[in-house]
Formats: sequence, C-alpha cells, structure tokens
Amino acid sequence: MMIRDEKPTDHEAIGALTSAAFRDHPHSQQTEAALIVALREAGALTISLVAEMDGRVVGHIAFSPVTIDGEDKGWFGLGPVAVLPEFQGNGIGRALIEAGLARLKGMGAAGCVLVGYPEFYKRFGFRADPRLTYAGVPPEYFMALAVGSEGDSAVELPRGEVRFHPAFAEAG
Ligand SMILES: CC(C)(COP(=O)(O)OP(=O)(O)OC[C@H]1O[C@@H](n2cnc3c(N)ncnc32)[C@H](O)[C@@H]1OP(=O)(O)O)[C@@H](O)C(=O)NCCC(=O)NCCS
Repeated sequence: MMIRDEKPTDHEAIGALTSAAFRDHPHSQQTEAALIVALREAGALTISLVAEMDGRVVGHIAFSPVTIDGEDKGWFGLGPVAVLPEFQGNGIGRALIEAGLARLKGMGAAGCVLVGYPEFYKRFGFRADPRLTYAGVPPEYFMALAVGSEGDSAVELPRGEVRFHPAFAEAG
C-alpha cells in the first residue's frame, strides 16, 4: 500500500470510493464526494492523499482550512476520510490519518479538528474540549489535536468557535 498526493486522474476514483464508503453510514447525507469536488474547485483542498494498492485507489483523506472565531490560526479540518468497504479494517484509514497529520506537521500547521467517532479518533490523540466549539454536532463528536502534541492533554487547545470551509455548508 502506498500513500501519495492525489493526481487529476484520481478524481473519479476518489468520488466513487467516498460514495461507496458513506453509502450506509448512519450520519451521512451522501454529500461527501460532492464536498471533495467543491473544496478542490475552491482551492481549499490543502491536503488530498490517496491510498493506492496494486495500482488501485482504495482510500482517500482530505484536509481543508478552518477558522477559529473567524480567524485563520493555522488550523485545518480533517475529512472526509474514506476507505472502500471491502478494504476497511486493514489499517488503511489509520495510515491515511497518520500520513495526513505528518503532512500538517511538515507544513507548520497549528492543529487539526474533525467531526467523528471519539472511539476511532482518540487513538490519534484527538480530544473534545468544551472551549473549542463547533455548532451543530454533539460536543463529544467534535475533536481537536494540536499538531505535534502527540495528544498530550497538558497541551492547551485554542478557545473559540470553529468554522469549516463554506464548501461544507454548500455541500449540505
Ligand atoms: C472510518 C474509515 C475511514 C476507517 O478506515 P479503515 O481502513 O477501516 O480503518 P483502519 O483499518 O485503519 O482502522 C480500523 C479500526 O477503526 C475502527 N473503526 C472503524 N470505523 C469505526 C467507527 N465508525 N467507530 C469506531 N471505530 C471504528 C475499527 O474497529 C478498527 O479498530 P481496531 O484497530 O481497534 O480494530 C473507514 O471505515 C470508512 O471509510 N468508513 C466509512 C466512512 C466513514 O465513516 N468515514 C469517517 C467519518 S468520521
């Protein structure tokens, strides 16, 4: 398995695998593939990595800039992340997340937020903090990680209200 930046020839496969992965997801509105396209068109797909296996694109992860209290503080939003259903449970998701976080660190990013299942993301050091908020989801599902902190809970997270890129609202 190889993780690399997306290429224009991957766009179709990324959309297809994302749609397939979220098809039966209980909290999905089936807009994730359109969201990736909207972020790309807006120039907001800061990081877009694919997992390739035997020449086939089987996983994908996106990161885009977020604001905190309306300001760019070097924070990014993780997602969508998806692995083709028949390839799930083999460590591809974890590898994509770890590669993405390493990439953020290399860029000098301050941190990363996401909406997702705490049981899955806490292993990467993400945690919920009542002072860093995101409207619209139960607080335990909104999680943050200061890049480079290894999830050390002594490392303070910023305070404020996070907004994802407008493409998230447009994609529904
Ligand atoms: C989430 C996803 C990207 C993980 O990719 P993956 O390649 O299956 O993940 P990995 O094999 O690296 O890790 C699997 C681990 O994650 C856990 N896991 C996967 N999805 C989970 C979930 N929704 N809730 C809790 N744990 C989950 C598995 O139980 C497994 O745990 P273990 O390592 O303790 O056994 C993939 O399952 C997927 O595409 N799901 C549908 C789309 C989705 O939900 N995206 C994330 C939205 S927040």
